[in-house]
Amino acid sequence: MNFDRNRKLRKNQSIRDLLRETTLTTDDFVLPIFVMEGSEKKEAIPSMPGVYRYSLDLLKNEIKDLYSHGIKAVNIYVKVGDHLKDNTGKESWNPGGLMQDTIKLIKDTEPNILVMPDVALDPYSIYGHDGIVQQGRVVNDATVEALVKMSLSHAEAGADFVAPSDMMDGRVFAIRQAFEQNGFDHVGIVAYAAKYASAFYGPFRSALDSAPVEDKDIPMDKKTYQMDFSNSREAIREVLSDVQEGADIIMIKPGLSNLDIVAKVRELITHPIAVYQVSGEYAMLKAASQNGWLDHDKIVLETLQSIKRAGADLIFTYFAKEASVLLNK
Ligand code: PBG
Repeated sequence: MNFDRNRKLRKNQSIRDLLRETTLTTDDFVLPIFVMEGSEKKEAIPSMPGVYRYSLDLLKNEIKDLYSHGIKAVNIYVKVGDHLKDNTGKESWNPGGLMQDTIKLIKDTEPNILVMPDVALDPYSIYGHDGIVQQGRVVNDATVEALVKMSLSHAEAGADFVAPSDMMDGRVFAIRQAFEQNGFDHVGIVAYAAKYASAFYGPFRSALDSAPVEDKDIPMDKKTYQMDFSNSREAIREVLSDVQEGADIIMIKPGLSNLDIVAKVRELITHPIAVYQVSGEYAMLKAASQNGWLDHDKIVLETLQSIKRAGADLIFTYFAKEASVLLNK
């Protein structure tokens, strides 16, 4: 015999089912949700068809619905009014702020849903940056102090994990330390460890109206904190330092364009790995499907499955609910 007849192992559905190496289930998903002020509001986000910004009264029903679909975790983003934005981020640790109210509402509505609020200043920043801007720079340590206050207020409101997405140095350590010292040893950290400066975030920034503002004194992009997508060793270094600082779960983001990084990190660490299939990935698949160029249901499951195969334990995806319906069919 001088060649392998590998097709024996693919000859029908039963043998393919028997030999499948990775299985995708609803248990793998974290759904990112957008929240806004007001009541009776469910606003469509044009660049993300099927994704909405909810006011809290309507979010309540959505949360019940998500749980009935088997979704067990949500990642929260808030769109606050412009009058609440400044260059300190102080609204972000307001105990009566929109994020804190959202966390409480979700835990009151469905305590079994894990709540993972985003930690970064961009929704609260007049400049659209994840940190405080001084003399044309996003300053690290002052930002970390603000992120610690924000994280503590999330923990106080009942968050299960905080999800710092800002890429400042040392913030995982600072948040962990603050949690330990303030009675929140039970609250975890999902650290965006390898987060690339990516054009795939475009639809998200329009959803929250949070893009960096155009001004000669303000950094025009996030490249001094988010990573250069040319680099892979740098991602390993970021991951290892967040593990050392006390992260519980490591995030790599965006997903599809960085599966090589996911696979490498999987070989190196034993911590759970989260992958974020971001807004631009969602928009891309929706747009092509709406044009009839891709088969929507198949492409959604194929991309999610490939993220899982690369090594993700959990996947942040805007497709969470739709995919759960497809998987349970
Ligand atoms: C902000 C944040 C971003 C995303 C998650 N948290 C955008 C950014 O860094 O500009 C992107 C999510 C997405 O595109 O779906 N800290």
